[in-house]
Amino acid sequence: MLTSTVALLALLTPAFASPINRRDPSFVDPALAGHLRRRAPASSDTTFNSSTVTNAKVVPLNPKRVLPTTGTYAKTSSTTSPSATSTQASTSTWSEVSSWSEVSSSTTQPSATTTQASSTWTSVTPSATSTGYTSPFDLAWSASGWSFFDSWDFFTSTDPTHGAVTFNDLGTSWDLGLLSVTENTATLRTDNWTTLASGANRNSVRITSKEKVTSGSLVVFDVAKAPYGKSVWPAMWSVGDNWPAGGEIDIFEGVNNVAKNQMTLHTSPGCTLSKPMNATGTILATDCDSSVNYNEGCGVQDPSSRSYGAGLNKAGGGVYVMYQDDNGIAIWFFLHDNIPDDIKNGTPAFRNWGLPRARWDASSCDMAEYFAAQTLVINITICGDWAGSSSAWSAAGYSGTCAEAVMDPNNFDDAIFEFNSVKVYSPK
Ligand SMILES: *[C@@H]1O[C@H](CO)[C@@H](O)[C@H](O)[C@H]1NC(C)=O
Ligand SMILES: *[C@@H]1O[C@H](CO)[C@@H](O)[C@H](O)[C@H]1NC(C)=O
Ligand SMILES: *[C@@H]1O[C@H](CO)[C@@H](O)[C@H](O)[C@H]1NC(C)=O
Ligand SMILES: *[C@@H]1O[C@H](CO)[C@@H](O)[C@H](O)[C@H]1NC(C)=O
Repeated sequence: MLTSTVALLALLTPAFASPINRRDPSFVDPALAGHLRRRAPASSDTTFNSSTVTNAKVVPLNPKRVLPTTGTYAKTSSTTSPSATSTQASTSTWSEVSSWSEVSSSTTQPSATTTQASSTWTSVTPSATSTGYTSPFDLAWSASGWSFFDSWDFFTSTDPTHGAVTFNDLGTSWDLGLLSVTENTATLRTDNWTTLASGANRNSVRITSKEKVTSGSLVVFDVAKAPYGKSVWPAMWSVGDNWPAGGEIDIFEGVNNVAKNQMTLHTSPGCTLSKPMNATGTILATDCDSSVNYNEGCGVQDPSSRSYGAGLNKAGGGVYVMYQDDNGIAIWFFLHDNIPDDIKNGTPAFRNWGLPRARWDASSCDMAEYFAAQTLVINITICGDWAGSSSAWSAAGYSGTCAEAVMDPNNFDDAIFEFNSVKVYSPK
């Protein structure tokens, strides 16, 4: 698999402008590569200058830097959510506020398990009677508060997607002020205090779970804030060994100023998304094969304009839930004010969850064949193959280039993940 991953890289690399791969494709950790390619290159693409990128050093600390203070990030109170559209109209990213009422109202949540879309979920759907229910899960592990970072390894290799970032180890990340914890929250961010020279990388963080997530498990990312902004490309995702053989599940991902989350699978050849999806998202592509269309993957866009970016954070964040078993993979999203009780109570049971936002059925993708045990990944990249692409850049309506955006620390004030928790449940 290593050989074929490298061969794939070698095959695709000449089409891309970044010299990093071409010079040394072996830096890609095949277990954690992921997202090797997004789209076909355009002749107008912004590219990084190879010599400046190659020679970039970790930029020394600015003595005047402001360390992120712990515990001061106010959560948006629920009173600003879903009704407060009038207070949220100030930037272009709020243009879709008119549609919020549809997606945020709890009345759109189907109310009982009879509305569970697919019979394939019944094996894990307990009886949700009004008198009570039993969760089919036990908590396997969770990361939160003071000990949040104990559950993760810090990835320090070059960004496989050519982002203008330096990923730091645990100690360096603390020293640089990229991490903070309180009793109830943990944050990771990119440097928003250093002005960089042209071509230099910005300090950021990428963490990978020490434990793997196996089939039949449920993953719940509870975020108070998620990163967004000019040139920013965050993700919460998972990947199996020997990518793409072990599969990749992108649970939360977006770039720049988009308002809607994108969920995507990337696999070996032969796995596709079946229609009807029985989920509320918009299908972007159906072939999950990483070798098709520059690893576009089989992606689904969340219908909610508060599933990513400024809208999400203004609403106080939300939870992203991923469930995978031999019958399929599904991702749900709930805004902070609409989190079902069973999830809040730590006894998840698919109660009143309604349709997922995205769903990939096993009828066209043998889950056991395409997905190995998954390592969770949380990272914040800057520019790179997606955020910095000419298509994404022009869609965002930004002036200047992505390379210029990296230099200005003011672009990274919102490049923050603030977690209430990450929880993994295994089947009872
Ligand atoms: C790339 O950067 C190097 C070092 O700063 C510079 O000498 C060279 O002219 C640059 N090349 C291009 C194409 O901008
Ligand atoms: C979607 O749901 C319908 C109705 O429950 C079911 O008949 C169909 O098989 C489902 N399709 C998929 C792909 O799960
Ligand atoms: C970082 O996140 C991006 C966004 O999903 C992903 O494509 C990329 O592979 C990640 N890179 C690293 C080195 O974590
Ligand atoms: C960095 O961003 C935080 C908000 O995330 C902000 O409070 C702080 O002032 C910013 N730092 C600088 C130096 O601008």
